[in-house]
Amino acid sequence: MKPITNIPKYRMKLTHENTPIHTWNLPGVPDEFKIFIKRDDMTGSTLSGNKVRKLDFLLAGAVAQGYKQVITGGQLQSNHCRSLAIAAREVGMKSHLLLIVNEHDESKISIEGNMLLNCLSAAKMYIVQKSQVGKAGLTPKFENLRQHIKLTTGEKCYTIPVGGSNEVGVFGYIEAFREMMNQNVCERFDDIVVTSCGLGNTLAGLAIGNYLTGSHLRCHGIDVSEQTNRVIPSIDDILTKLGLHHVKAENIVNVIPGYHGNGYGLSTREELEFITMVGKKTGIVLDPVYTGKAVLGLVQILNTRKEMFKGKRILFIHTGW
Ligand SMILES: Cc1ncc(COP(=O)(O)O)c(C=O)c1O
Repeated sequence: MKPITNIPKYRMKLTHENTPIHTWNLPGVPDEFKIFIKRDDMTGSTLSGNKVRKLDFLLAGAVAQGYKQVITGGQLQSNHCRSLAIAAREVGMKSHLLLIVNEHDESKISIEGNMLLNCLSAAKMYIVQKSQVGKAGLTPKFENLRQHIKLTTGEKCYTIPVGGSNEVGVFGYIEAFREMMNQNVCERFDDIVVTSCGLGNTLAGLAIGNYLTGSHLRCHGIDVSEQTNRVIPSIDDILTKLGLHHVKAENIVNVIPGYHGNGYGLSTREELEFITMVGKKTGIVLDPVYTGKAVLGLVQILNTRKEMFKGKRILFIHTGW
């Protein structure tokens, strides 16, 4: 097996590591399956979830290269943007967030949820209307802002892509897989399931970790976004950047599309009832945007398409908030 290339030089430890794995008596699962959950909703307090693992690598690189300011972007209530805002303050950097909003929602913006946490972390926020975002996404706006900051403050600004999803951020979950090896996941489980959204970076990290250590598990991404055709090309791109040209994403991940419901940030009644029931019966709190949709999908798939799974011992990765 060829070694991977482009391993990041720097890492910081924002993540509270060794998050627990325990059984999960998830309602609606057929008796033959046993479900377990890895609690990556416990990777930190305000900084919880999968984002913080990516930032361990992304921000470490920025700090090591002497950057004092950092730009990223996402949807108005983006978890990634909030995580970056908090982490940036922890390491003494100033953050700039480009937040996308639907035109008709602009007048309803209020300082609540992640927006409140962004304010409390002194992030500078810029509202971008969805209609102003073209095919290239936020990238041209990141560049304009970077140049503006350089001109007005003289300081260089580090840019982190939407979701922290690139060949550096992916090491968050390659490293998480190493942690999971120490928790004996390869012996204890047959399948790993995670929410896949956007570019599927968390899924990519887990699948690459699994591949590099012998592919004992089957990795599934339950896709909760409408644009499902982005995940496989994006994982292929990362594999290439890590020198794994000979590996094909479709051979190391199973992306299961169709669980976006009413769309990003919109919940169906069924999803809300499901999340409420899971919280009440198991004490695990799922979020309506990502894990709520994915876990409802998981239960449905276990009931209708169980042949997708390698075995009966399934580990769900809770990607937090
Ligand atoms: C809670 C949660 N789960 C899953 C995801 C998707 O992660 P990725 O973009 O790495 O696929 C996100 C993205 O922000 C998230 O906030």
